[in-house]
Amino acid sequence: MRVMIVGSGGREHAIASSVAKSGKVDKIYCAPGNAGIGRLAECVPIGAMEFDKLTAFAKEKSIDLVIVGMDDPLVGGLVDVMEAEGIKVFGPRKNAAILEGSKAFSKELMKKYNIPTAAYETFDDPNAAVEYLKSAKMPIVLKADGLALGKGVLICNDLKEALDGVKTIMEDKKFGDAGSRMVVEEFMTGREVSVLSFVDGKTIKIMSSAQDHKRANDGDKGPNTGGMGTFSPSPFYTREVDEFCKKYIYQATVDAMAAEGRPFKGVIFFGLMLTQDGPKVLEYNARFGDPEAQVVLPRMKNDIIDVVMACIDGTLDKVDLQFEDNAAVCVVLASKGYPVSYEKGFPIKGLEAFDNKDGYYCFHAGTKLDNGKIVTNGGRVLGVTAKGPTLKEARANAYEAAGWVDFENKYMRGDIGKAIDEID
Ligand code: AMP
Ligand code: GLY
Repeated sequence: MRVMIVGSGGREHAIASSVAKSGKVDKIYCAPGNAGIGRLAECVPIGAMEFDKLTAFAKEKSIDLVIVGMDDPLVGGLVDVMEAEGIKVFGPRKNAAILEGSKAFSKELMKKYNIPTAAYETFDDPNAAVEYLKSAKMPIVLKADGLALGKGVLICNDLKEALDGVKTIMEDKKFGDAGSRMVVEEFMTGREVSVLSFVDGKTIKIMSSAQDHKRANDGDKGPNTGGMGTFSPSPFYTREVDEFCKKYIYQATVDAMAAEGRPFKGVIFFGLMLTQDGPKVLEYNARFGDPEAQVVLPRMKNDIIDVVMACIDGTLDKVDLQFEDNAAVCVVLASKGYPVSYEKGFPIKGLEAFDNKDGYYCFHAGTKLDNGKIVTNGGRVLGVTAKGPTLKEARANAYEAAGWVDFENKYMRGDIGKAIDEID
């Protein structure tokens, strides 16, 4: 089989690594890919939003399966364009990717189908938002409606911050057109869990849970990032939580999308908050999480091709999705200054330490080949993942392995998985 992956981050490297393990695959392409993916796949210099070029390439190379990793092309309708040309693609169509692409849509869906989430209001007019906020309970959460690289969410502690937030999102358009519409949401407290799932339009199969660390610095301080590290499973995702979510959230979401005439095929990522009143949906994503994929996929026992094809063919009910009975931790190695400003182009040393090391992975996020050398090429540079029989052992392994590689301005959090210590 010939498989093409669309994207260029650590998530796509983790997907490529699972695809490479499948006995059914003899050639992998990745557009545009990165230096690490280039060791498993042939990287082609086509951007993820160049739909016509991607489609022409897939036809020219007789690709049997395309896996779209990133949110932008999914929300923009790459799956529809490729399907129209008879190409098999894993990912939601545009009318289903809106689950991630519009927070106003997803909130309305949850309200209509009684899926637990924070109370909210939607505004197209900044003046109406300001009037509403004057009598709202603080803290409060403001969210730009559209995609904003995970950064379009402002948590406001008082009225002044909230009014500044309206200006930032709706008037100054800091997050671009994503901020033409804004969701104002009740502030919730609790522990966050990421639950990824495979969906075939009607059946949903839940993957092992994970937890992300979104802030740049130790102690959950500093600005929000794409994610600085993850662990899986989350010990806080108990059997009770799982049962609740199965009853009120997972299948309910899939059924709601089908009832709306927007059947969802692909990965639904449930961002959950475990509140005192039970689990609630913080947000939906229409793709694997990054860096969640880097701890979840290495623990999956199934051949990823079987699962993905079952999603496309509508036969997911026949799949027995299984995960290893162990744990994994991923520590992101970033460029100092990420996510605000950082330098690129520094050579990376020590990558060969990961060769043939079972249970250790060095997923590339922002890297590229420069005159035969692998150099840094982004804010998040590498995701170092290690497995272990327990979360604590996996964490010790991951931090040890994070020391095997080096580059100028290397920065990582020292407390990925610290919450694990609370549980015994
Ligand atoms: P989102 O992109 O919607 O997941 O929001 C990004 C982050 O903002 C989440 O991971 C939470 O940490 C925080 N957040 C979002 N919505 C809320 C909320 N209603 N209450 C408290 N925190 C929130
Ligand atoms: N790690 C969060 C995300 O992928 O959106």
